[in-house]
Amino acid sequence: MGKLIILNHPLIDHKMTKIRDKNTDTKTFRENVNEISGLMAYEITRDLETRMVEVETPLMKTKSKVLANEVVIVPILRAGLGMVDGIHMMIPTAKIGHIGLYRDEETLKPHSYYEKFPKEIVGSTVLLVDPMLATGGSVLASIESLKKAGAKDIRFVGIVGCPEGVKAIEDAHPDVDIYLAALDEKLNSKGYIEPGLGDCGDRLFGTK
Ligand code: PRP
Ligand code: URA
Repeated sequence: MGKLIILNHPLIDHKMTKIRDKNTDTKTFRENVNEISGLMAYEITRDLETRMVEVETPLMKTKSKVLANEVVIVPILRAGLGMVDGIHMMIPTAKIGHIGLYRDEETLKPHSYYEKFPKEIVGSTVLLVDPMLATGGSVLASIESLKKAGAKDIRFVGIVGCPEGVKAIEDAHPDVDIYLAALDEKLNSKGYIEPGLGDCGDRLFGTK
């Protein structure tokens, strides 16, 4: 079974309160989503392999560590875009793929409209990012696309999840680790996470 890691950190919790608040404006919301994502990067990458290289300091030659493998960040559009910069700032060598999905408001099923991965997807650590893990349908469809493209080490990184979405990933893809800033109570009858933060894409991009 993959790991389920709920980030437990005062700075993340403080920023979570900002993005849950319905009175937070678009700019502040976007900044806090990015900052939470950047803070999460530290924990998500804790077990990445490193290798030794030689480096010359101003004083002498020495051996020092660099990341052994490539990292690819794959946001699920649209809302996943809000997490990219924060993580990319911490892993500037990462390549970026994109998965375009939208959730049908009636059926809650994901519909695919775009997909583009860098060739490094095979053999890389893939960070699949989407702030909201609700039914899990969007993440499951994305993991299937990534696996079809050859990805093996896939980690899902979300901001708010719920038990229903976590179970969906664990049942279908027990090899995928799940990282969340918060695990909320439940899904409501419209497929929204409660207490949650509302429609993340709309709040990031000011579309409502
Ligand atoms: C939202 C969210 C996730 C998805 C989660 O996206 O960003 O991608 O719903 O729901 P699920 O776990 O039930 O699949 P939405 O489809 O609203 O698209 P958007 O990001 O373009 O707003
Ligand atoms: N997508 C969102 O943006 N918010 C939710 O609560 C569920 C799905």
